[in-house]
Amino acid sequence: MPELPSDPSRRGPGDSPPLQQPPLWRQLQLTATALASIRAGTSGSVAFEAVEPALRPGVQSLGFQVLRWLGRAEALRRHLAKRTPPPLPDALLCTALALAWDAAHAPYETFTLVDQAVEAAKRNPATRAQASFINACLRRFLRERDELVAATDTEPVAQWNHPRWWIERLRRDHPRDWQRVLAADNAQAPMTLRVNARRTTAASYLTELEAAGLGATRVGASGLQLARARPVQQLPGFADGACSVQDAAAQMAAPLLLDGLLQDAAQQPLRVLDACAAPGGKTAHLLETAKPGALDVTALEVDATRSRRIDETLERLGLQAKVLVADASRPDQWWDGMPFDAILLDAPCTASGIVRRHPDVRWLRRESDTAQLAAQQAALLAALWPLVRPGGRLLYCTCSVFREEGSQQIDAFLVHNTNARLLPSPGHLLPQSGSNARGVPDNASGDHDGFFYALLEKRPR
Ligand SMILES: C[S@@+](CC[C@H](N)C(=O)[O-])C[C@H]1O[C@@H](n2cnc3c(N)ncnc32)[C@H](O)[C@@H]1O
Repeated sequence: MPELPSDPSRRGPGDSPPLQQPPLWRQLQLTATALASIRAGTSGSVAFEAVEPALRPGVQSLGFQVLRWLGRAEALRRHLAKRTPPPLPDALLCTALALAWDAAHAPYETFTLVDQAVEAAKRNPATRAQASFINACLRRFLRERDELVAATDTEPVAQWNHPRWWIERLRRDHPRDWQRVLAADNAQAPMTLRVNARRTTAASYLTELEAAGLGATRVGASGLQLARARPVQQLPGFADGACSVQDAAAQMAAPLLLDGLLQDAAQQPLRVLDACAAPGGKTAHLLETAKPGALDVTALEVDATRSRRIDETLERLGLQAKVLVADASRPDQWWDGMPFDAILLDAPCTASGIVRRHPDVRWLRRESDTAQLAAQQAALLAALWPLVRPGGRLLYCTCSVFREEGSQQIDAFLVHNTNARLLPSPGHLLPQSGSNARGVPDNASGDHDGFFYALLEKRPR
């Protein structure tokens, strides 16, 4: 699963502008370069990391919007141009179309976007030869916008801005909700915080935020949803571990696994394994949920570079766990033979539940990835289940909305493991975008990413 970058497109009218604001044509050039790189298979986080830091927030903001409307832009481009232009001019043309197709939500006047896109083409030797072609396409688009948009409305990829296989899978998996999920995916996710219960409470941190002029509302036991996204450095006490950034659905993992077990815990600390732990968000939440000394947590991560993020997370929050770089599916290489009271398996997945925060994911995934990841998840489940003590629990979760990585995975597991019992669990939580999703009803409740949770208990012998 990719990490959670903040979505800089959520800058509001009252916020201070970025220190350095380059001309729009330059931002469009950089956005198009990032788009060309994502289309060639680079992840969004890497593509935007390549932009110089002072310009990155603005470019990422435009880039996120382009990725959310790329299906529409590509369909429009096919109507405007018989042949696909070379990758960079095509990325520039699609960037302009994605930003301008819906005038009501365009970040700039559509005429300005078109002028600046043509300027961007002229000023780059790699696109200069296509500048008049781009100009002709975009001027025609401005003249015939309504007809062109209506013509593309018949194409599901243009209408929903997801690949066709993804739309069809969602229709099959969630026949009543697929349209709501697709609409929610195209909204901007809010910035949600988890308050560090070892340091403070959600109520008193809310007061601190308000004193700092930052509006927020309570979500769940320890969550606060900010009225507007902020750089974390602006959050009171962030560097000292007062809070972390974590989606509301992800905040369900720790209490789901530990509620019930903590009350039963005798004098000994509970032995807890977080099997797929980087960057450590849920490891930290497990520790914050319990009193100091109540848990003995081992955090595993197969990727050594990513495992360093767990150490950084724990250090900032003032928490301790045993962090191991190891393959969770090979306990013979790292397990000391002592059973665990509780295991969290936050398995690698398609990340199809968090596309609001990672609008590149839908374009990068291939249909075949799902089966491959489901096989990996099944192997992890099979390897870790024997490590749970009788009467202990394993919480299986993925940030996916696909049933193959959720309910179907667990149904198959229960058939083959008769010593497992499914405890009351949320199952598939579909993404909810509260107020800012086009096509999402105003009364949609809550705001969270898509997740799947299944809490399994091993029957006592
Ligand atoms: C969904 S992310 C975990 C997010 C984390 N639980 C959190 O809340 O911050 C999955 C992680 O599992 C790691 N991973 C994948 N296969 C693994 C394996 N076989 N053993 C251990 N870690 C693995 C990935 O590198 C990735 O960091």
